[in-house]
Amino acid sequence: MSQDAKESTVTAAPADAGTGDALENLLHENRKFAPSEEFAANAVVGAGDYAEAAQDRPAFWAKQARELLTWSKDFDQALDWSNPPFAKWFVGGEINAAYNALDRHVENGLGDRVAIHFEGEPGDTRSYSYAELTEEVKKAANAFESLGVAKGDRVAVYLPMIPEAVITLLACARIGAVHSVVFGGFSADALRSRIDDAEAKLVVTADGTFRRGKPSALKPAVDEALAKEGHTVENVVVVKRNGESVNWVEGRDKWWDETVGTASTEHTAVGHDSEHPLFILYTSGTTGKPKGILHTTGGYLTQGAYTHKAVFDLHPETDVFWCTADVGWVTGHSYVAYAPLINGATQVMYEGTPDSPHQGRWWEIVEKYKVSILYTAPTAIRTFMKWGKDIPAKYDLSSIRVLGSVGEPINPEAWMWYREVIGGNGGKKDTPAPIVDTWWQTETGAQMIAPLPGVTATKPGSAQVPLPGIAVDVVDELGESVPDGHGGYLVVREPWPSMLRGIWGDPERFKDTYWSRFEAMYFAGDGAKKDEDGDIWLLGRVDDVMNVSGHRLSTTEIESALVSHPSVAEAAVVGAADETTGQAVVAFVILRGDAANNGDETVQELRNHVGKEIGPIAKPKHVLVVPELPKTRSGKIMRRLLKDVAEGREVGDATTLSDPTIMQQIAESLRK
Ligand code: WTA
Repeated sequence: MSQDAKESTVTAAPADAGTGDALENLLHENRKFAPSEEFAANAVVGAGDYAEAAQDRPAFWAKQARELLTWSKDFDQALDWSNPPFAKWFVGGEINAAYNALDRHVENGLGDRVAIHFEGEPGDTRSYSYAELTEEVKKAANAFESLGVAKGDRVAVYLPMIPEAVITLLACARIGAVHSVVFGGFSADALRSRIDDAEAKLVVTADGTFRRGKPSALKPAVDEALAKEGHTVENVVVVKRNGESVNWVEGRDKWWDETVGTASTEHTAVGHDSEHPLFILYTSGTTGKPKGILHTTGGYLTQGAYTHKAVFDLHPETDVFWCTADVGWVTGHSYVAYAPLINGATQVMYEGTPDSPHQGRWWEIVEKYKVSILYTAPTAIRTFMKWGKDIPAKYDLSSIRVLGSVGEPINPEAWMWYREVIGGNGGKKDTPAPIVDTWWQTETGAQMIAPLPGVTATKPGSAQVPLPGIAVDVVDELGESVPDGHGGYLVVREPWPSMLRGIWGDPERFKDTYWSRFEAMYFAGDGAKKDEDGDIWLLGRVDDVMNVSGHRLSTTEIESALVSHPSVAEAAVVGAADETTGQAVVAFVILRGDAANNGDETVQELRNHVGKEIGPIAKPKHVLVVPELPKTRSGKIMRRLLKDVAEGREVGDATTLSDPTIMQQIAESLRK
């Protein structure tokens, strides 16, 4: 991307992630692990759901919606697909998400069951029963209403992993306000652009959190984001978490303790339309501007609850569920804030990093709370592998009975390690816990492809089969279904309850991005392959989206950030394979003629600049200053070649370059 072309969209060669011949012999896996007889006998969902859903998909989902949720007004129609791609699920129904997550469990006599065991990074703990959490959410709902937040208003949430995050989300849902969570690792600039796009009225934040034993601030980023006039924010509610002193804007800023803390515990939840917006969550796409993915209420809750029950074999009366995702990502929405509570489960919530204060922290938490279902990302598993199996071996992991993986492909080695070391309690268990590798996206709202642990014989590295009621397929360039043993693009052929309902404020972009590549199919942006058994393997993105530690980042967005630096003339970013994080951000930059190249200093400055523009998570691992970028005659940057360089491979076919000597020049400049 060049400085004068910031808004242009760069489309990578679509088959970059590999569709076609190269793949034919790539992914073979003969190991399979059938569920134990005992597990299958006690499983909450059996094979019958596949058949039932196949017979009548909308009827299957309507049944789940009525069984798993309490509607204040029943719906008349399961699905209205008369105006694709704009779906309506459970038409005419009315429902309150917070009532379903909280009040009804208390009314059903489960008020004393623990909803959340919170473990703070410094070691402080708090547990909330369903009755207590209900009370907190009612207070927050009253407080937000008293600050003028009404149904349909947007609330930006910039919080660490503390119970107040869940309380805030449910309080918004209760009053029909639309939450828009911005991950705490995003910068003030990124926060501001999300606040502006959604026109948020309220921001909920904290003074900060703790990172590796030290306080880490959040409030300054909110102050910086709101420093420039022209925003829509009226109030900022601040949770006191790390006790550090904060800057205060009188009239605008309110302490959580003084507003929520003093609010009434009486609050009646009214039903909202099934299609009432529940939240917006921004995610990276192929252009510079993040997309506000919109989810609505009835369908989102239905599929979240069903998948949480079926894929994790949830027994809410005995299980302890722990999803390690931050609430800033969709996994933390669907499988921390919503589904576990809708299903009346007990869950663990942890604020910190896995290595604080020591590398056994997670396993200590599993032992302490007797976690029975653990849901995490491959990048974490690979990190634990690096640290060695002696660390988890010091803890009793015998409570674990289901393991989940999400966010990126899990390589078979990591899968086997997860099974034996964690699920097998370091070899002390005869039958290790089954692993469910779950494929889904911010856009899909809930899991789409995953084994059912009591039914499917699991296979290391493959997410395997579409869930009951989900019509996933792998197709070729023309949209034809590929036969088993072949690769192509992952699509969804039929609408599903938790599908995104659009991109906030941009219906055209919604159609273009997801529904125009293939006719009448949702294009996920992932490459995939069906193996000889018809099991699906995910092969990574086929567009300009990178996946770093399970976090979605856009190459274009990082390129925009780089070219906004005065020293940079052009930039190209690739996701290079990385042992631990899956992919790592590698940037190639051309400096402007008048900019001095001060070596490491320049590199550091550019990394920090990206950190400031987008957030620390987007900082390139490597910045390589090069004299030129490889381009085709039509001016497209050939990222494939840069990826070869970044991954230390021999550079592939460069014959279509406008100047075929460029790759040599780059190699030479890097040797220097
Ligand atoms: C990738 C996270 C392989 C995929 C829930 C998808 C996966 C993107 C898997 C969505 C998996 C997610 N196996 N790849 N089990 N799960 N992905 O929106 O590329 O943060 O398109 O949602 O992550 O990332 P997002």
